Amino acid sequence: VKTETPVPSAPVATADWPALSARRVASVKTSFIREILKVTENPEVISFAGGLPSPELFPTEALAVIAADVLRTDGRQALQYSTTEGYRPLREWVGARYAGRFGLAVDPDEILITTGSQQGLDLLAKVFINPGDTVALERPGYLGAIQAFSVYEPVFAGVPLSEAGPDLDALRATLTGRRVKLLYTVPNFQNPSGFTYPAAARRAVAEAVAAAGTVLVEDDPYGELRYRGEDLPPLRRHHAGTIMLGSFSKLVAPGLRLGWVCAPCEVIRQLVVMKQAADLHTDIFAQRIMHRFLAGGGLPAHVARLRAVYGRRAATMVAALRRHLPAGATCNDPDGGMFLWVTLPAGGDSRALFERATQQKVAFVPGTAFYVDGGGERAMRLNFTNTDEARIEEGVRRLAAALAGPG
Ligand SMILES: Cc1ncc(COP(=O)(O)O)c(C=O)c1O
Repeated sequence: VKTETPVPSAPVATADWPALSARRVASVKTSFIREILKVTENPEVISFAGGLPSPELFPTEALAVIAADVLRTDGRQALQYSTTEGYRPLREWVGARYAGRFGLAVDPDEILITTGSQQGLDLLAKVFINPGDTVALERPGYLGAIQAFSVYEPVFAGVPLSEAGPDLDALRATLTGRRVKLLYTVPNFQNPSGFTYPAAARRAVAEAVAAAGTVLVEDDPYGELRYRGEDLPPLRRHHAGTIMLGSFSKLVAPGLRLGWVCAPCEVIRQLVVMKQAADLHTDIFAQRIMHRFLAGGGLPAHVARLRAVYGRRAATMVAALRRHLPAGATCNDPDGGMFLWVTLPAGGDSRALFERATQQKVAFVPGTAFYVDGGGERAMRLNFTNTDEARIEEGVRRLAAALAGPG
């Protein structure tokens, strides 16, 4: 093999890349999360900052067998280009799951398999958002949605979310005060807060949005991770035009990058054109592996295990926080999902606390990261799925030490 010393190309060092970039690039804020990643690279740091499932719970052995099987029996199809809509049997499985869990009649043609539900957010924004359109979303809201939508240069309107659900008066005022193109919601165990919309709020939100002629997006990556209580009806139950997003990331494994959009066929047709332009289709090898895993009956036991382990971790974190948090601080006790939300006493500053917590080798995400229009100074998001119970106890002790520190 002939090796040559690489030679630099003709100089382009003078190019002003920021000036050459499209305006949309500057409209996406780089987030504080990057700062956090720098801190959590240190293995001594106990990180409640990420949003990761627990890797030791991935069904790696089952997937290894299935992956080899798919290659052996369907290798040619699994490695060939495929359809943009997605692998039909997987779309059928998703439709059947909606029927089984909620009695919703969903046709496989109403489902588009996407490269994670994050791509669903991007495609929906491509289809619906013109620069300057108003997009309403919860405050605090999911950072990935804020980012995905920001690329298309909307104006955001925040709807306050608390443990009691979205502020319905504020939502109605937002919807009637101006034309709102789209409302983005995460009704189950929301990221970042862990809050869940009560049943009555679901009906009220769906009715208000339907009356306003606004596109309603219901993102539900965490709904199956319920540790207590009964499933609540999706918003879609109350408004047939609701667009639902789903994901296999938290249910099976995020690295496979499999999610879906469930929407009326007319919307799916538009999304398909956008997806074709973006990536032609979702990884078909991954889709076939996922379908075989689901069809093989492995899911119920797997989900039961996730619920048991994550449920214990959530309970451990809540109990530790309630022991250690100072008077006036609160934390919720979510029925599922991956996160909980701490609010510091009046005058508290979670950004300043983050700096002190770093010295104690524990990390979280300060609340301000999740607000498009300011707020969250006293709040923080803690993840409980990616840390075992002993380290959760230790991490909360370190957090308490940081809280007891100066300032
Ligand atoms: C509310 C919400 N929606 C969507 C996603 C994206 O998930 P994925 O693209 O892995 O399906 C996440 C990931 O954390 C999330 O929290």
